Amino acid sequence: MKKVLTFSEIDTLVDKLSNIIKKNDVIALIGDLGTGKTTFVKRFAKNLGITENVKSPTFTYVMEYRDIEPALFHFDVYRICDAEEIYEIGYEDYLHNDGIVIIEWANLIESELPEEYLKIELFHKDENSRGVEIKYIGNEKREKEILEYVDFSN
Ligand SMILES: Nc1ncnc2c1ncn2[C@@H]1O[C@H](COP(=O)(O)OP(=O)(O)O)[C@@H](O)[C@H]1O
Ligand SMILES: [Mg+2]
Repeated sequence: MKKVLTFSEIDTLVDKLSNIIKKNDVIALIGDLGTGKTTFVKRFAKNLGITENVKSPTFTYVMEYRDIEPALFHFDVYRICDAEEIYEIGYEDYLHNDGIVIIEWANLIESELPEEYLKIELFHKDENSRGVEIKYIGNEKREKEILEYVDFSN
C-alpha cells in the first residue's frame, strides 16, 4: 500500500511503528538520497529510548545501541559493492541477536534480507511530503495487522 504523507504524518507513522515492532524484526528502508531514511531511524531510535545522537554508520555499516531492550542495530549499506560483504561484519549474528535491525539502502542487499521483513519505501514528492509504501514481506497476516495499525489498509 502506497500513500503520500506530509512529514508530520510520517513522524506519526514512525511513532506507531515503534509501538509494534518487536525484537528480531527487520525493517528495510529503501529510497533515494534525501527521502528521509535517517530521519526515520532517528525518531524510531528516540522512541525506543535511545538518548544518543543517532548518526548513520559510514565505514562500519552498522551502529549498535545495546543500552536498551531490545537492542537496536542500525545498518546503512549505501557504500556496499557486493551484498555478500555484509557477512564480513557479522550480519547473520545481528539478525539473530534478539534486537531490532533497521537497514538503510536495504535494496542493495536485497538478496541477503531474511524471509520476513518490513519493507518501507520512501519517494521524493515535494519539500513537505514523501511517497511512502509499506509492505511486510513473507507474512501476510502480520502485514495485515501492521497496515491496519498504521492506517495504511485503505
Ligand atoms: N520526517 C521528516 N520531517 C522533517 N523533515 C524530513 C523528514 N524526513 C526527511 N526530511 C527532510 O529530508 C532531509 C533528508 O533526510 P534524511 O533522513 O537525511 O534522508 P536519507 O537518509 O534518506 O538520505 C532532512 O534533512 C529533512 O530536511
Ligand atoms: Mg541516510
